[in-house]
Amino acid sequence: MRLATYQTRKTCILYDAERLCDAQGSPRIAPEHFEPDHWRTRGAVLGEAPGRGSSVFIDPADLSTDNAWVLRPYLRGGMAAKVSRKHYLWTGLERTRAFREMRLLAELYLQKLPVPRPVGACITRTQLAWTGALITVRIPQARTLADRVMESSADTALLERVGSVIRRFHEVGLDHVDLNARNLLIDAKDNVWLIDLDRCRLRSPGRWQSANLARLGRSLARFDRASDMVMADIQLGYRNLPSTP
Ligand SMILES: Nc1ncnc2c1ncn2[C@@H]1O[C@H](COP(=O)(O)OP(=O)(O)O)[C@@H](O)[C@H]1O
Ligand SMILES: [Mg+2]
Repeated sequence: MRLATYQTRKTCILYDAERLCDAQGSPRIAPEHFEPDHWRTRGAVLGEAPGRGSSVFIDPADLSTDNAWVLRPYLRGGMAAKVSRKHYLWTGLERTRAFREMRLLAELYLQKLPVPRPVGACITRTQLAWTGALITVRIPQARTLADRVMESSADTALLERVGSVIRRFHEVGLDHVDLNARNLLIDAKDNVWLIDLDRCRLRSPGRWQSANLARLGRSLARFDRASDMVMADIQLGYRNLPSTP
């Protein structure tokens, strides 16, 4: 992983130059790759990601040997969407949520924490605002913790691993501001992954750690009547020494 920027008049891309440069060192990724329609018109959309309904799974084809990427435009939900769904106030390139999430993912990925490998972030600037999108590598055959809990296929061992993975992220200082049962993914080998690092940041230990866990508890309560027991197993894994894979 080696991050580099590539700027045109209105757009700026922060991308993994280790994997997305041609032999001359020029980027092979361009602004259009961050537009869902680019992939739709080519029949390269593999599916819509669950959630806010704006992310798509795409086939990068000759851009990469990865099986699939996830393209997520930055969009507002709820009341805030009434102002603008996709425009965010410009306060500087490095302050955009897209660039911040890209850099944070790269940092955690390099520390061998279980996050999806980031591919690139692209922002387009208008006078006062930016719009943007992020691409990550899709974790194959991943299902959300919410799904696993709902179908009662999350045993104690898995839940303890969820807790120990959260603990590993907390040890490096990651405050996941939206730690919910849909942002924890479980792959076919029952490995646990953390996704959706929008607005997250690294900070020193504090009350945010228990706030993260409390948020996860509230999220699980929406999917499972026995969420207290689920949380007890997660807490157990969290309190024990974190396991490293
Ligand atoms: N790298 C990834 N690999 C596999 N699935 C993913 C990946 N990123 C996102 N998803 C799926 O897409 C859903 C939504 O993605 P997420 O990044 O959480 O965006 P949001 O919550 O803003 O819609 C996730 O719950 C997950 O099911
Ligand atoms: Mg999410």
